[in-house]
Amino acid sequence: MSYAIRDIAVIGDELAKKGKKIYYLNIGDPVNPDVSDFKTPDYIIEALVEAAKKGYNMYGNSLGVYELREKIAAEENRRNDLDLVPDDVLLTGGVSEAIFFVASALVEEGDEILVPGPVYPPYMSYARFFGGTPVEYKLDEARNWQPDIDDFASKISKKTQFILLCSPNNPTGALYDEKFTREIGKLAAEYNIPLVSDEIYDQILFEKFESYKCHVSILKNDLPIIGMNGFSKAHLSTGWRLGYMYFHDPQGKLEQVKRSIEALARIRLCVNVPAQYAAIKTMEEPKEHTKVMVEKLWKRRDFCIKRLKEIPGISCVIPDGAFYLFPRLDFLVQKRGPWKDDKEFVLDLLKETGIMAVYGSGFGKYGVNHLRMTFLPPIDVLDEVFNLLEAFLRRRMP
Ligand SMILES: Cc1ncc(COP(=O)(O)O)c(C=O)c1O
Repeated sequence: MSYAIRDIAVIGDELAKKGKKIYYLNIGDPVNPDVSDFKTPDYIIEALVEAAKKGYNMYGNSLGVYELREKIAAEENRRNDLDLVPDDVLLTGGVSEAIFFVASALVEEGDEILVPGPVYPPYMSYARFFGGTPVEYKLDEARNWQPDIDDFASKISKKTQFILLCSPNNPTGALYDEKFTREIGKLAAEYNIPLVSDEIYDQILFEKFESYKCHVSILKNDLPIIGMNGFSKAHLSTGWRLGYMYFHDPQGKLEQVKRSIEALARIRLCVNVPAQYAAIKTMEEPKEHTKVMVEKLWKRRDFCIKRLKEIPGISCVIPDGAFYLFPRLDFLVQKRGPWKDDKEFVLDLLKETGIMAVYGSGFGKYGVNHLRMTFLPPIDVLDEVFNLLEAFLRRRMP
């Protein structure tokens, strides 16, 4: 199994060891100082230290600290118009562990799951790990990376165990339109297939923030939904490994799934206990750090889009949220330039300029001929990146 986002880093690290300056645009980690200038807010760090000093250093409840589950349920109810109780919430080691839990409970040999393509690679890896086949439904670049409903409908089968939604999306940054969300919901209800919704970027939204309605609030009614979210991105604490999942299950269709996930949670004991107490504090405070981060990211996104527009041979849909750009390398589509594919291009770019992006084909068949780069670095660094990229393209394609 390969994971392009981290595989490319191995090559970058070797170049860095030899003294080359590397621009780390490959990984979505806002608090990695090699990547960006964002920091975990002091008050969250202080809350973690305080929890450890108070003695919360022992194993905790496998489902999570109750007070935090209460706060998460209340916040999800407010944001997504749900009616969760604390027992519907389970703390996980990041959304990553939540994805693993869902796959382990729902996927067996021969099963299929429907995932958006271009695809966040771990959805595929976990499904395959349990003997399943991930089937990509097409996000259509020509329509701002919205789901192609005909393609989606054609890929539902008797073997489909769940449908995954990721909005705002990694790698495209697109927010699913309400219209498409409703159509997906209609089909899921018709075929009686549960939805799994990855909402890790739901607080990182630009123009559409005010009008944002999470698809869970649109879909909720009778549909069984497993939501996943966490503290890594919006609360700037990727390394703390804290996320959660919740079960919106008005007809009790997910009871067995919930029970097996809870059993698995008990086997792995618990998630980071001091971090859970710090998370309680995070949920009590106004989310100023998220607001400040989004304002900065918005400017960085606009800067990158402006620079990209000036480069012939590259086109890019403007992302609504998250912190990724997923431009199309038109010159590869037109077979211009010396590279045979996106991987060869990205490796050449890295070796020559130190710009570390991820090749689009690492995000599945719908990602081919693209690259993914974050716009996490400050504008002066992004400026250097685009100067280098422009000069590189001029040299290679005079
Ligand atoms: C779409 C998506 N889901 C989940 C994750 C993992 O998040 P966590 O740090 O909570 O495990 C990421 C991280 O980049 C992501 O982009």
